[in-house]
Amino acid sequence: MTRNALVVGVVGAFVASGLVALSTPASAGTTLGASAAEQGRYFGTAVAANRLGEAGYVNTLNAEFNSVTPENEMKWDQVEASQGSFNFANADRITSHAQSRGMRIRGHTLVWHSQLPGWVSGLGAAQLRSAMNNHITTVMRHWQGRIHSWDVVNEAFQDGGSGARRSSPFQNQLGNGFIEEAFRTARAADPTAKLCYNDYNTDGQNAKSNAVFAMVQDFRNRGVPIDCVGFQSHFNAASPVPGDYRQNLQRFANLGVDVQITELDIEGSGTSQANNYRTVVEACLAVSRCTGITVWGVTDKYSWRASGTPLLFDGNYAKKAAYTSTLNALNGGGGGGGGGGGGGGAGTCTVSYSETMRWPDRFNGQVTVRAGSTAITGWTTTVTVRSPQRVSATWNGSPTWDASGNVMTMRPNGNGNLAAGASTSFGFTVMANGNFSAPTLGACTVG
Ligand code: G3I
Repeated sequence: MTRNALVVGVVGAFVASGLVALSTPASAGTTLGASAAEQGRYFGTAVAANRLGEAGYVNTLNAEFNSVTPENEMKWDQVEASQGSFNFANADRITSHAQSRGMRIRGHTLVWHSQLPGWVSGLGAAQLRSAMNNHITTVMRHWQGRIHSWDVVNEAFQDGGSGARRSSPFQNQLGNGFIEEAFRTARAADPTAKLCYNDYNTDGQNAKSNAVFAMVQDFRNRGVPIDCVGFQSHFNAASPVPGDYRQNLQRFANLGVDVQITELDIEGSGTSQANNYRTVVEACLAVSRCTGITVWGVTDKYSWRASGTPLLFDGNYAKKAAYTSTLNALNGGGGGGGGGGGGGGAGTCTVSYSETMRWPDRFNGQVTVRAGSTAITGWTTTVTVRSPQRVSATWNGSPTWDASGNVMTMRPNGNGNLAAGASTSFGFTVMANGNFSAPTLGACTVG
């Protein structure tokens, strides 16, 4: 039933935003992005600006994906090669392309030990703190309100069993506190963006992911702003999809953060590669706070691991078996239940809307979710705003958006368990852009 409601919403939104004019329109159930949207998720890819002139590349991108991550163009050495001198041109090519087609954008990355210009390493502590905060603020403000999630800090933990922080100019000069400071600065710079910590070899439960888990738990306990954790998910024979992948995503989600699969690629071919992709997609769909999947490139021929043929399209942009298993998994629903968050089950719920505040340029809406005559352990509903309205902030819920940005699917943020007849509410701010019409609500579904 959610599926049908979302199909109607997505198609309607595409018509409203003119996206039907695309040469290969995204159709529900037949492309990665549209199928993910039916599940309330995005399906994205890393994009390289210098490939946007290649027809096969751009046609595949436009047809299949509804979120992009610039592969290198937002990194520190690209946007601030010289201190205080910012160049956003290459990244802007990607963000403009995405925005004009209603794709969402992940920001990657603000503070990372790699692809860091030499001048950063030469700074003393006070100058480095100032440079880091200036970098975060300037870069985030450039795309303010347009990036759904930012990798604020990337790869700050060491591999291996120690659970220690990785040596970097930030760690060495500023100590453990640099991560917290980066997140606080990021929240102030763009309060509409979800703020993620992103890393690799944290996909299963191990010493490294335990250390990241402890940090996220500490941030949540102390109110340090963090909204999401990115699991890069670069897999091959030496580093296979862990058996406890879903459980690991779920334990982070249980801390009250979203989880995202941010750089997925799996070396291999044929059926075994296809099965591994299916496992990953099903794991995400089984965790209600897993809000989206990004593969790390459009085609094998431009992968950072090209010889391992780790992506969904081959060098000629033909769909691989891994593509088919991924699409089928996206169309197959949530699989084995949400485990601690959104397992579905008995009960009913209803939703109602009221406007709670209005300013000259925006208004706040509130949706009350009420359980029927039996207790429920999770709920999902949609809020559709009318273009050119835009949702700029939400609270007490965990939102995901469709490709157009008009249909917000809301799930609980720690407020999913409702006794019979009990209610909870979530809220949001709508930038009206001249249109103060009330948004429309989808049905409330349990789970
Ligand atoms: O653009 C220059 C080109 O002008 C020059 O001729 C060429 C010579 O080597 O280098 C080109 O830059 C390369 C850049 O990719 C663009 O292709 C860099 O050398 C190369 O180091 C860089 O690699 C990127 C890598 O991050 C750097 O650490 C990969 O494309 C990118 O996929 C990879 O992405 C990382 C994520 O950001 C973080 N997680 C791991 C992931 C995979 O390593």
